[in-house]
Amino acid sequence: MRTSMNRVALAPSILSADFSRLAEQVAEVEAAGAERIHVDVMDGHFVPNITIGPVVVRSLRRVTALPLEAHLMIAEPDRYLEAFADAGVDGLTVHVEGAVHLHRTLESIGKLRKRVGLALNPATPAALLDEVLPELDLVLVMTVDPGFGGQDFIASTLPKIRRVRELVDRVRPACELEVDGGIHAETAPRVVEAGARVLVAGSAVFEDPAGIRAAMERLRAAVAGLAVRATGTR
Ligand code: DX5
Ligand code: ZN
Repeated sequence: MRTSMNRVALAPSILSADFSRLAEQVAEVEAAGAERIHVDVMDGHFVPNITIGPVVVRSLRRVTALPLEAHLMIAEPDRYLEAFADAGVDGLTVHVEGAVHLHRTLESIGKLRKRVGLALNPATPAALLDEVLPELDLVLVMTVDPGFGGQDFIASTLPKIRRVRELVDRVRPACELEVDGGIHAETAPRVVEAGARVLVAGSAVFEDPAGIRAAMERLRAAVAGLAVRATGTR
């Protein structure tokens, strides 16, 4: 599930998929070269929306070989880490704003032998990473306020992506930098130039009238060559 510094990985978010044909849609993104599947878990409490839980993850696990990353937009994430781990996820990403004893939560994910991810909302400063970055396999910079697919990209997150990139390069280069929210062919080059290397995309992948494959090709073309350049000029 690791990505090289010079490659951009696509993580389609199934939030925008047609849930009545979930296996089919996942097979389609897999065939189109998706590197992983992003699973948005919402509890109607931490965020206003409610989505899916471990039961769906368990079914998904059976129909794809791709890594599954659970983005937990839930209050008290500690209560559910084990359930998602048992259901077959490869990585668990919790929100810094939702975990009271964050260090313990991250440690629990590590003990479950899952990839340890931490998400930051748009208004949450990158400086919060200072104390925990050595524990992380992935930092997820939210580029919208979490809760819904299809929202507009928040451009003020770009300087933060740059700050996180610098921090990661300095302290923990193996840690992935992922962005999530409002990512499409116009915004993807901007986040990659800022330092993102994993792009979550929901509506841009599943709601493009040209279809999933064409949508993913468009995203890849939009960032082709950029990651290498951005890293090289730093
Ligand atoms: C938002 C979710 C995202 C969402 C992205 O709360 O975390 O993963 O699916 O959707 P798009 O790509 O449509 O903004
Ligand atoms: Zn997400």
